[in-house]
Parts: sequence; structure tokens; C-alpha cells
Amino acid sequence: MSGVGLDLLEIERLEAALARRPSLAARLFTDGERAYAAARSRPGQHLAARFCAKEAVAKALGLEAWAWRDIEVVSEGGAPRIVLHGALADRDVTVDVSLTHSRGTAGAVAMVRT
Ligand SMILES: CC(C)(COP(=O)(O)OP(=O)(O)OC[C@H]1O[C@@H](n2cnc3c(N)ncnc32)[C@H](O)[C@@H]1OP(=O)(O)O)[C@@H](O)C(=O)NCCC(=O)NCCS
Repeated sequence: MSGVGLDLLEIERLEAALARRPSLAARLFTDGERAYAAARSRPGQHLAARFCAKEAVAKALGLEAWAWRDIEVVSEGGAPRIVLHGALADRDVTVDVSLTHSRGTAGAVAMVRT
């Protein structure tokens, strides 16, 4: 476990993948993540940032395989937070995350606190 993880993604890449395979959204994102994005003007921007967050958390935790929805970005106003589910739920860690997006790119950084 490195304790820190970073990931970037071109938003159009995710938008194109979701357009090609509509079932992908439910495999990658929780109901809450999809509802959050759907309520905004460009959902792909927010989904891309959350995809990056999951990759960043996986790097920070040193995961080699994981279920995408077991890493959830919860946004309830202010800074988003990470909630771990399923096989990751019993890890005794707190993971901090920060998201960003421009028109073209989304990114996230994650840090593990024990
Ligand atoms: C929160 C803030 C830093 C976001 O910066 P930004 O350049 O607009 O946007 P970024 O693309 O870098 O970041 C967006 C992400 O920041 C996250 N974010 C939102 N509020 C946050 C907060 N208080 N702390 C940390 N992260 C926050 C969100 O998750 C958002 O992603 P999402 O929309 O997909 O959920 C910015 O709005 C800010 O400076 N707010 C404080 C000052 C303020 O309120 N200014 C407005 C006065 S009118």
C-alpha cells in the first residue's frame, strides 16, 4: 500500500464508452453516484471524476482487483468522501479524496489514513 493514489481521465473517453455500452454505468457507479451526476448539466464530467477517484483509491490501497461499486464517492455538500463497501468494507482505514474536472479532463487524488 503506497498510501497515495492519483488518476486522470479524458472525459470524452468515458462518455463514449458509456454511450457504446449503457450497462457500463451501473457496473462502475453506485446508484448515488449516478443520481448525483444525472442531476448535473454534464453527467460525464462528474462520472469521470468518480472513475478517477476509484482508480486513485485502488492505487492508494494497493489493490490489484476490486469491484468498482465497492469504492463509492459520497457527495453531500462540501468535500466528497469515500465509503468502502463489500470486500473492502472491513478495512480499518479512512481514505480522503479530492476531485477536479476541466472541460476535457477529470482527475482525483486519494490518501489513506490509518
Ligand atoms: C470547492 C471548490 C474548491 C471547487 O473548485 P473548482 O475549481 O470550482 O472545481 P474543481 O473541478 O477543481 O473541483 C470540483 C470538485 O470539487 C469537489 N468539492 C466541492 N466542494 C468541495 C469542498 N468544499 N472541499 C473539497 N472539495 C469540494 C466536488 O467533489 C467537485 O466535484 P463534483 O462536482 O464532481 O462533485 C470551489 O468551488 C471553491 O473554491 N469553493 C470555496 C470558495 C467558494 O465558495 N467560492 C464561491 C464564492 S461565490
